[in-house]
Amino acid sequence: MARIAASPETQEPSPAAPASSAAAGALAPHERQAFLTALSRLSEHEEAFTESLYARFFALRPDAAELFGEYSISEREEMVRETFRCLLAWLEGEPWLDANLRALGRSHAEYGVEDEMYPPFVEALIESARSVTDAVPEESLDASTLALLRGAAEQIVSTMRAAGGG
Ligand code: HEM
Repeated sequence: MARIAASPETQEPSPAAPASSAAAGALAPHERQAFLTALSRLSEHEEAFTESLYARFFALRPDAAELFGEYSISEREEMVRETFRCLLAWLEGEPWLDANLRALGRSHAEYGVEDEMYPPFVEALIESARSVTDAVPEESLDASTLALLRGAAEQIVSTMRAAGGG
């Protein structure tokens, strides 16, 4: 299982950072640290997080469940790991993020993913982040950290969505 270390190190975003990662550069050091800690906690609870995310997402958009193959467990797990990887890349201002998201947006449009599915996906992601961390009292994420996660996730899916034709 991929683990994301909650490193206290900070890194300047690349000057060539694309528009989708621009906002991360404006984060204060304590916000960057809170974001990293949140990702680290979520990746430690990857299994529960994945289960919660798909249950919530498919409850909001039952038609999205139909897009997944019958034996798509590994694809679903890969999707969650890729989401974590993109959130971290967003924070670090990685220059490859934009092209990666555009390619994902195009492949997802081919899977039949509709523009309107992206907001409920973000909703399910944030609610899962909240519930999985609330289950361990000292890991609970505060509202401002959840808001940071939401902002980053919204930027990620908006790049995918735009590339998919939305
Ligand atoms: C509206 C939200 C989304 C829907 C409905 C969706 C749907 C799907 C579907 C149907 C598959 C193929 C599964 C199969 O082969 O059975 C898939 C694969 C995948 N998804 Fe998503 N997805 C969404 C959001 C995301 C996001 C936000 C990311 C990452 C940032 C992501 C990353 C991936 C990856 C890495 C795969 C594996 C195959 C590939 O690379 O295309 N997905 N997704």
